[in-house]
This record gives sequence, structure tokens and C-alpha cells, in this order.
Amino acid sequence: MAAAIVGTGSYLPQRAVSNRELEKIMDTTDEWIKSRTGIEQRHIAVEETTDSMSVEAAKRAMENAGATAEEIGLIIVGTVSGDMCFPSTACRVQSAIGAKKAVAFDINAACSGFLFGLILADNYIKAGQADTALVVGAETLSKMMDWDDRGTCVLFGDGAGAAVIKRKPEGILSYVQGSDGSRGDALFCQNRPVKNPFVDNKAAFSLDYAHMNGQEVFKFAVRTVPEAINEALGQAGMLPEQVKYFVLHQANIRIIEAIAKKLGQPIKKFPTNLQKCGNISAGSVPILLDEMNRKGELQKGDKIVLAGFGAGLTWGAAALVW
Ligand code: UT7
Repeated sequence: MAAAIVGTGSYLPQRAVSNRELEKIMDTTDEWIKSRTGIEQRHIAVEETTDSMSVEAAKRAMENAGATAEEIGLIIVGTVSGDMCFPSTACRVQSAIGAKKAVAFDINAACSGFLFGLILADNYIKAGQADTALVVGAETLSKMMDWDDRGTCVLFGDGAGAAVIKRKPEGILSYVQGSDGSRGDALFCQNRPVKNPFVDNKAAFSLDYAHMNGQEVFKFAVRTVPEAINEALGQAGMLPEQVKYFVLHQANIRIIEAIAKKLGQPIKKFPTNLQKCGNISAGSVPILLDEMNRKGELQKGDKIVLAGFGAGLTWGAAALVW
């Protein structure tokens, strides 16, 4: 018995912002962004929130799967940009969709959030603790950016993707996940400082923004992700040649090209949407998966690899049969 993805959904904010628009508000160029990252535009939340996008993506995934709210026993949202510190985005999704029987919680694994959520759902299902799970990756990263830092703000976008996971004879075959907290400084955003009547902390409270050492993250991704994918393939008894699509976290086209080269696989097996969406952290993989699913690119029996990597540092790869 296994757990399989049986439906997908996604939501992108209405407002698309092109590189040309960014040229008007900061010292950057369309040429720099495109040549260094492949990104041409991103969607930015104006009316939307992490909650609203998660709920919409979840509803679309349930509709695609033909799943009812009553049958969902587990809701996991991977996010670093929830609307609230608490309650969790997952509990807000639970309430909005009326999944009364579900246990709901968020996980913080940054850009690996959807992969980690999927792996957790797989384990819950295999352990008999749930039959149907909803896994969401959702981010409103635009609110975490320092819009005066051109090195980070041009890269990220907002959006949500979701998948319904069910107990099935075949589905997720293997996975690998890892974390290296000792390299957490490469990509971080601080939460509130300790400030209470018992601490001598006179500093004015201000919210932090995302900081990134881009080159360090780049090197980490290019080294770690192919290793994780090869390990997951080995565990599944699958060769890279047998994989139809490698659905990777959409951070940078040059990272994806380097990973394809290391795996010795043609770039056409690596679908992308980063050109139109930028990097949506935990949202990247499920949004791309949903686009492919709705275009009819995923057929029953196709062998697929999913992989995510990002802040933590964290990484994960899963091999599955669609
Ligand atoms: O989701 C997972 C987390 N993130 C990632 O995976 C990101 C991984 N890293 C990357 O994708 C790349 O490192 C970046 C796209 C972030 C940066 O590309 P790079 O080729 O490593 O550029 P760089 O940081 O070395 O910067 C090169 C130059 C610098 O100017 P100088 O010092 O050479 O004069 C930057 O100031 O490009 C400049 N620069 C920009 N110029 C125009 C940095 N950002 C911009 C910008 N527009 N937006």
C-alpha cells in the first residue's frame, strides 16, 4: 500500500509584475534578472493573503481529486509567510473548507515545505493515521522582502499550490530529506526579538526582512539536490532515464540547468514556470505540478521526481508514479 497524489490545485495573485516594472522602482534591469535567473515576471499579492490563496488552491485540488471535506483527515501547510503567528494557516484552511475531522498544522521548511509536507502525509497514510491528506505550499513572500534590496526582492513571488494525497496501491515510491542548520545564515529572516518587562531591551521593535547569500545557496543547491535525487531514485530502483519529469523548486534557471547536467538528463525533462512566477518558496513545486496536471502532461504510470531546497538549509526529493 502506498500514498499517491490524486488531485492538484493552485492560485496565483491577479497582479503580475514584470521585470520592466521593477526597472522603474529600483536599480535593476530586465536583462540582469533574465540572464541571471530566467525570471521575467512574478505575481504579487495585492488583495490576496496566504490564507486566501491556500484556501483557493485547496478547493481546486479537492475538486480536481473529487475529494470531499469530510474525508480529509490531515491538512499540512508548508509556509514561512502565514498571515498569523497563530493559529496556523492549516487551521484556517480547515475552517474555510469545513474539514471538521482533519488534524491541521503548518510546517516551516521554507522552499522544501511542500516536499516535507508530502513526505509527512505519506508517513501518516502508511501508518494508518489518515486515509486522505491535503498538502499545501503557500507564500506571500512579497511582504518579507526588503524592496530596497535588489539582490533578493526581484527573485520571489506569491502564490499557493495544493495536492490531495490518498491511500493507493501505487504512488510515492521513495524519498530523501535533509537539513543542515549550521548553514542557516545563508538565508534567513528574523522573528520578533525578545522584548518583555524583564529584559533590558530598549531597541525599537521593527520587523526584519529576508537576507540571502545567493551564491552560497546556489552552490548548496547544485551540489545537494542531484545527490538527493540520485539517492531517492536508487531507493525506488529507478534510473534517471526512466523519469519523465523532474519537477524542481523554481529558484533559478541556471540551478535547474546545472542539476540537469549533473544528472545527465536533457533539459526538456525539467519543466519550469519560474519565468512567469519567480521563486514562490513552498508554493513552487505544487503550483508547477498543478500547471502540468491541468495541461494533461502527467499520465497514469508516469515516473516523476519532485525536489525542493532552501532555507534551513533544507532539502528533499521524492520519486513517485503518477
Ligand atoms: O529558494 C531557494 C533560495 N534561493 C536561491 O536558490 C537563490 C540562489 N542564488 C541565485 O539564484 C543567485 O546567486 C542570484 C540570482 C541571487 C544572484 O546571481 P549571481 O550571479 O550570484 O550574482 P551576484 O549576487 O554575484 O551579483 C552580481 C552583481 C553584483 O554587482 P557587482 O558587485 O558585481 O558590481 C550585484 O550587486 O549583480 C548585482 N546585482 C544586481 N544587478 C542588477 C544583484 N542584484 C541585482 C539586480 N539587478 N536585481
